[in-house]
Amino acid sequence: VKIITTHQLQNMKERGEKISMLTAYDYSMATILDAAGIDVLLVGDSASNVMAGHETTLPITLDQMIYHASSVVRGVKRAFVVVDLPFGSYQGNSSEALRSTIRIMKESGAHGIKLEGGAEIKESVTRILSAGVPVMGHLGLTPQSIYKFGTYSVRAKEDAEAEKLLSDAQLLQELGCFAIVLEKVPASLAKKVAETLHIPIIGIGAGPHVDGQVLVVHDMLGINKEFKPRFLRRYADLHTIMTDAVANYVKDVKAQDFPNEKEAY
Ligand code: KIV
Ligand code: NA
Repeated sequence: VKIITTHQLQNMKERGEKISMLTAYDYSMATILDAAGIDVLLVGDSASNVMAGHETTLPITLDQMIYHASSVVRGVKRAFVVVDLPFGSYQGNSSEALRSTIRIMKESGAHGIKLEGGAEIKESVTRILSAGVPVMGHLGLTPQSIYKFGTYSVRAKEDAEAEKLLSDAQLLQELGCFAIVLEKVPASLAKKVAETLHIPIIGIGAGPHVDGQVLVVHDMLGINKEFKPRFLRRYADLHTIMTDAVANYVKDVKAQDFPNEKEAY
């Protein structure tokens, strides 16, 4: 078993090879994404939306994240598996953040964690890193703060927020984070961050001038019919494929076409 390492991800940035990352929440999907050659799998707290049907990422619990993460880890031979610390599992203080991290690492077998924020979470990042756990940062549109932002639109369009983002990114790098996700920020700002920092910057809605890309797998496979933001490229229309398959099954069952003689014992 050869898992991709944070050193390899760092080398990829240095060589100019872009890092591919997708979310995964279950065993079957993780098996497919891993075999298809994905570098990093993120057990995102977007599971709250795509798997559980919540409107925001806030309700998902640490136990639920561990369940998703352990399922993903069992499906992986090569990809580096990162797990989101969910809302409420790290903001209190750094020992709470470390305790949540240790539960994820022990109970799921994942390889690293991600948490949202910059200067606000400095102590927690330091404490988790000192326990030997790789930490990925997440800046820009941080969905756990949706009620502070009030909107899911692009962040850091104004100079003050852009400057804070760049200094937060530099801080996360100094603390020892191995990579940072930048979500929904202007491409020019993302470019500046990726050029200024030596660690990999992974974008979602952050343009092409970064060191890698991440998408929510259900979105890029076209499972969610309604969700069509500008940054999303759809690589399949699984919504149509799955709807047609299920409708055909219903039709065949009703018509007593399924099962036929060959499909019976
Ligand atoms: O939870 C998630 O899916 C994420 C990615 C969008 C980066 O954090
Ligand atoms: Na997330």
